[in-house]
Amino acid sequence: MEFQLPSLPISLSILLVLIVVVRRLFSSRPEHPGPRFPSPSALPFVGSLHHLVGKLPHHALRDLARKHGNVMRIRLGQVDQIIVSSREGAQQVLKVQDANFAFRPEFTAAKIIAYGASDVAFSNGEYWRQLRKICVMELLGAKRVKSFMSLRKEQVARLMSDVNGAAAAGEPVNLGERLNELTNSVVAQASFGRRCPQQKKFMETIKEVIKMASGFSVGDLFPSLKVIDVLTGFTTKLVRYHGKLDAILDATIKEHQTNRIQGEEEDLIDVLLRLKDEGNLEVPITFDNIKAVVIDMLAGGTETTANTIEWAMSELMLRPRTLERAQKEVRDAMKDKGYIEETDVPQFNYLHQVVKETLRLHPPIPILFPRVAQETTEVLGYTIPAGSRLLINVWALGRDSRYWEDSESFKPERFEEGVNKEFKGNDFEFLPFGAGRRMCAGMAFGLTTLELALSQLLFHFDWAFPKGVKAEDIDMSENFGATASRKINLLLVPSLRYPTL
Ligand code: HEM
Repeated sequence: MEFQLPSLPISLSILLVLIVVVRRLFSSRPEHPGPRFPSPSALPFVGSLHHLVGKLPHHALRDLARKHGNVMRIRLGQVDQIIVSSREGAQQVLKVQDANFAFRPEFTAAKIIAYGASDVAFSNGEYWRQLRKICVMELLGAKRVKSFMSLRKEQVARLMSDVNGAAAAGEPVNLGERLNELTNSVVAQASFGRRCPQQKKFMETIKEVIKMASGFSVGDLFPSLKVIDVLTGFTTKLVRYHGKLDAILDATIKEHQTNRIQGEEEDLIDVLLRLKDEGNLEVPITFDNIKAVVIDMLAGGTETTANTIEWAMSELMLRPRTLERAQKEVRDAMKDKGYIEETDVPQFNYLHQVVKETLRLHPPIPILFPRVAQETTEVLGYTIPAGSRLLINVWALGRDSRYWEDSESFKPERFEEGVNKEFKGNDFEFLPFGAGRRMCAGMAFGLTTLELALSQLLFHFDWAFPKGVKAEDIDMSENFGATASRKINLLLVPSLRYPTL
């Protein structure tokens, strides 16, 4: 049979159909009505990843938002992310449309480490709703936080005693390291008391996991190339760490089952085991779920709190008058008593302002954990299709001159009494703990430890830079990691002013 060319009108029709099909397939026209998202330039395959190379993600995304707008779309690898960088946008996502955006996407590390992402931070749906309720009512509510008062007292006293030792020897203290030890011990003891057979190994492994999880998994950015995570050993390493954590947590739970504690003295594992055994939960929880929640507490509650104290001390050291005012407040109030208890802390107004200002400039989680839109919706006129991933750059909001005067300067006075700006999730330019349904579940826990430790560091000691170091030598840059910690730990020389207990 001979092949014949189609007639001209038929050829034209075929060509037209082809053009329509190809344009449909490759059209960059949005599927949904509304203006097109502004986006930074993209390269084949890697998308806009090159804009982030060599920079901290929250810095790079702030710079891009300045060029492209408050709501922009950026393709990182094979995944589109919508970046929100304005107060109005954050309010839309975290308040007006909170229910639609209260979902987290999948992450390789969370799936492997947290028992199929069954922790608080990365689970979803009914199961997550129940965990949040347990957090509020049982694990991290005001009553439970108060019940850990004596363990905080003991751990902060240990820190003061170590600092005192350094003061006596005239040696510098590595505040970053010591503060991490403090917050680790507080959260670990709240979670499992002294009943974790290998607490040191557990904490070391958690640290490694956090380090790994803060990098990008190839599979998360390039879902079609998940196999690379296996080939590079990323997945295997996570599985190995998970195995180590699992063995220690198994032994810890067994220990708790053998020696059950109830009432005031319960730690978080006791509470979770009790809830499991009572059998009144709508979604029954398993041992694995309990382990996932404990991992969350340690991963979410230690670096965040320690970093904030370290940044506060760093900023104060660069501003002697501000440091003096903060010290005067606690010393005037407590010099007769000679020491500070947790119940004294609420009266330190200037200290609260210092903490607020630190969290404005140095939110430990600079970009809120990612959200996924459940249904197609609109934010500030842009259509957000269902399934879109969305990030809120709270670091950028805290330094935005549209909302803050002299926005890059550390000025606790900006929160002077009468200025009604809080980080409780209602002021959308100030979101160090996030807002809405997925707001930090451990805010009260974190703040109580951090304000107690900071007030005592300021009360008991005077502080100086190590010999030969001047204020202008202090590197205030941040590390790339799960939290925005200092790149270089803060080393300071203490001298005793009021004896420690
Ligand atoms: C200064 C201390 C802390 C800061 C600044 C902080 C900040 C945050 C932020 C920004 C989020 C994400 C919120 C969002 O996605 O909208 C978060 C989530 C979370 N935080 Fe904290 N956090 C701190 C301390 C703690 C502590 C001490 C704990 C527990 C012991 C804790 C447990 C959690 C949990 C479980 C979540 C996940 C909430 C969810 O997805 O439902 N945090 N935190």
